[in-house]
Amino acid sequence: MVDREIIEKGLREYLDSDVKFMLEIGGYILDGGGKRVRPQLVLTFAKSVGGYIPENAYPLAYAMEYLHTASLLHDDVVDGSLTRRGRPTANRVFGNDACILTGDYMYALSLYLFSIYGDIDMIKNVSDSVKKMAEGQLLELKRIGDLNTTLEDYFKIIKGKTAVLFGSCCYVGASTVTDDKQIKENSYKFGLNIGLAFQIVDDILDYVGSSDKVGKTTLNDLREGKLTYPLLVILDKVTPEERELINRVIKDKNPSEEDLLKVKDIVVKYGGIDISVKKARELVETAKSSIRELPDTPEKLELLKIADYIVDRQF
Ligand code: IPE
Ligand code: IPE
Ligand code: MG
Ligand code: MG
Ligand code: MG
Repeated sequence: MVDREIIEKGLREYLDSDVKFMLEIGGYILDGGGKRVRPQLVLTFAKSVGGYIPENAYPLAYAMEYLHTASLLHDDVVDGSLTRRGRPTANRVFGNDACILTGDYMYALSLYLFSIYGDIDMIKNVSDSVKKMAEGQLLELKRIGDLNTTLEDYFKIIKGKTAVLFGSCCYVGASTVTDDKQIKENSYKFGLNIGLAFQIVDDILDYVGSSDKVGKTTLNDLREGKLTYPLLVILDKVTPEERELINRVIKDKNPSEEDLLKVKDIVVKYGGIDISVKKARELVETAKSSIRELPDTPEKLELLKIADYIVDRQF
């Protein structure tokens, strides 16, 4: 079996509960698909450092995907999102309460897997990331509708909500095979930088992606009053009238589709998308430089390919 098939099987096997409803909700979100980038990173790092131990690497790869899945279940409640992975969000099907609890269960399941297949150092790294994810999501909420949001705020938010988990995936993968502090830290840095790029691309796709391919309703960040990179980088170029429109839209609890599209056009017109792609590419190049020291193996090439895919992806 190729990794992807093993991951799909493993994710379902390890998700176990006496409560059928938990399995139903967990199964629903897993069956929606998803790119499984995070478990892939755990496994590829475990292989590229040398001395691969699949018995530990696989369960920990699942554990990282459970953390991600939990964050998605919670995120869709927080964002009031209607679609994910091309289907109605789990909260729309099963209700917010049940999805929060299933997310909690997955966080705990992940911790359990780390207690068996991981070590204290990994748990320290991962728990720090999970704390930062909650902080990032909360910081984002505080900035809703705020035209004074800075790029510094933005990077703090996306580092927390997205990038640190990518960092931990790489850290955990490397940690399954080495105790070398430098290798583990470089692995973390690789993940952190591709994670930042990943979220910038997610934010780009929210503006200009095809909702069919992305599987999520587009323009949702704007609809929610969230200022993301493509918008933030053009704010100093717009006319006072355009700024007024943007301000009105991000403060509006229920903006019209027409207004959302007007803001999108402004973002595109001033090059917000191109600037964002360029930034994501820069971050990916920084990421690549942190794994220079790894031995030249097919798995290292795989990591470089994953890094490029982060920017080139259409969904
Ligand atoms: C979505 O993550 C949440 C973000 C951090 C942007 P993914 O884009 O990896 O979602 P799936 O798992 O492929 O559905
Ligand atoms: C993702 O942020 C952060 C998570 C921890 C899930 P988004 O809110 O942009 O993710 P999507 O676009 O809903 O997947
Ligand atoms: Mg969301
Ligand atoms: Mg969100
Ligand atoms: Mg998004």
